Amino acid sequence: MNRASANINLMIKAARFAAKRLLRDFGEVENLQVSQKSPSDFVTRADRKAEESIQTDLTEGRPNYGWLGEESGEKKGSDPTRKWIVDPLDGTTNFLHGIPHWAISIALEYKSEIVSAVVYDPLKDELFWAEKGSGCYMNEKRCRVSNRRNLNEMIFSTGIPFANKSGDLSLTLAELNNLMPECAGVRRLGAASLDLAYVASGRYDGFWERGLQSWDIAAGLLLVKEAGGLIEPINIENDVLKDGELIAGNEISFEKFSKIIRNR
Ligand code: IPD
Ligand code: CA
Ligand code: CA
Repeated sequence: MNRASANINLMIKAARFAAKRLLRDFGEVENLQVSQKSPSDFVTRADRKAEESIQTDLTEGRPNYGWLGEESGEKKGSDPTRKWIVDPLDGTTNFLHGIPHWAISIALEYKSEIVSAVVYDPLKDELFWAEKGSGCYMNEKRCRVSNRRNLNEMIFSTGIPFANKSGDLSLTLAELNNLMPECAGVRRLGAASLDLAYVASGRYDGFWERGLQSWDIAAGLLLVKEAGGLIEPINIENDVLKDGELIAGNEISFEKFSKIIRNR
């Protein structure tokens, strides 16, 4: 990993360290599924502990940077131009149910632009990382978005509103209704950071979702861009990070895919 900058190495170290504890906790959650105790308080604690551990490592390494974490909120740094954006556990519902699909997401923002990104799936030991202008990698391997152009060969991914997440369910259902008959399938695996990492590595041909938070997608956005993909807000007047909505895909099919999602 000698191409990586000091910041990326710090982010990777923090992600790997927090992952060790999350992996132990995930093993415990699997046992709790069959017990009478509810695993949800346990998972909330695991989530918070993971964020604390990442925050300690990143703040020790870069004491002047700002911070935005899902669990602990925002803290200004003495350097107003740089900020970590962290989701310590993306895919909490999967984690809670013992489903092995969740990740740690860490991004570094510099002057309102994401410049470094790490999305780590510890169960598969897949570490996706990117730096602005230096490409995207999964572990040591360079990532590229897919080069499929025919919708009927393409797999897409999205997020569907659920009980504790407000959103326009009928809108997503209408989009699915338009897209599904045209493509090879749509997945809803429940971790937006990994959805974007899978677009970056060519596993998915595209992804769209609304109602996301900046920590869900900050790192994934850079992965896709550095892997040669395109990202736009669904409503072109919106801002991807601030409004939490996006369409991501490869350049060749982006127009076809985005037209269907935008219902044009
Ligand atoms: C969630 C996941 C999910 C997305 C939700 C997010 P969490 O994050 O990324 O895929 O559909 O909107 O809240 O709660 O598991 O960190
Ligand atoms: Ca999340
Ligand atoms: Ca989370």
